[in-house]
Amino acid sequence: MKILTITGTKRKGNSLLSARYIAKKLEAELDILNMADLSIEPCKACYACLFGQKCMIEDDVEMVFERIEDADAVLLIAPVYWLDLTGKIKMFLDRMFMALPYLRDFRSKKGAVVYLYGFEDLRGWASNTYNIFLRVLGIEPLAVVGINAALPGEVLKKGNVEKLDLIAEVIEKGKRVRFDYQCPVCLSEIFRQENGVLRCPICRSRLDIDLNVVEEGAVMRNEWMDEHYEWLRGMKRLYIEQRDELAKLRDVYGV
Ligand SMILES: Cc1cc2nc3c(=O)[nH]c(=O)nc-3n(C[C@H](O)[C@H](O)[C@H](O)COP(=O)(O)O)c2cc1C
Repeated sequence: MKILTITGTKRKGNSLLSARYIAKKLEAELDILNMADLSIEPCKACYACLFGQKCMIEDDVEMVFERIEDADAVLLIAPVYWLDLTGKIKMFLDRMFMALPYLRDFRSKKGAVVYLYGFEDLRGWASNTYNIFLRVLGIEPLAVVGINAALPGEVLKKGNVEKLDLIAEVIEKGKRVRFDYQCPVCLSEIFRQENGVLRCPICRSRLDIDLNVVEEGAVMRNEWMDEHYEWLRGMKRLYIEQRDELAKLRDVYGV
């Protein structure tokens, strides 16, 4: 098996160790793509790639897709920084419309998220953005596992390696794992209260207080993504219809 680990930390620490540990356990070939070392420019929001055109920005983004194509499983293993994901991973996520031509291939790949954090109370919401990262690539994560490991190497301590073993098992068997604090549909760990109703912010399922599904949502699933991209393409027609009117509004502010 060939595993691609995507990460985004400059430190030779817990993310890198997790990737090596899991690959060794599975006797798998390991490829590591560290977003922190890549050239990734901000998305220009021109939407050209949504219509099958090549991105005008020349950087490392396209190369990442080629490396993913080559893997059987994709593990996103990365730290929490200021309660959130690390910067270069978000930079890459913002360019993901470019993944469209690859999605058919990517959807057959297994994937999981491991997020590392130093403080139990400061885990924040990175787990959800990392979850979405794989979904936008067409890979529904089989597991989302958080590991409390502050110092480099702590991920290999007792209590943590068991979690890495679990990820190895998930990838080997293609078995999905859901913890009782996660959304049963999409594994989100964060929830929104909207007009007295609890909703998952990723899949939009309606849940009760014990996280049982009251009404299943399908947002960010592959079929929904296809419809969403179609809808976004339709926005171009809308923009052309309203272009002059919008230009007049912007002119007032010189934008
Ligand atoms: C800039 C920075 C911000 C961090 N912010 C958080 C945080 O908000 N919450 C947390 O639990 N840990 C935080 N940490 C700790 C890291 O998540 C933790 O040390 C992790 O193991 C780093 O992974 P690595 O060894 O793969 O780089 C932060 C670390 C750094 C360097």
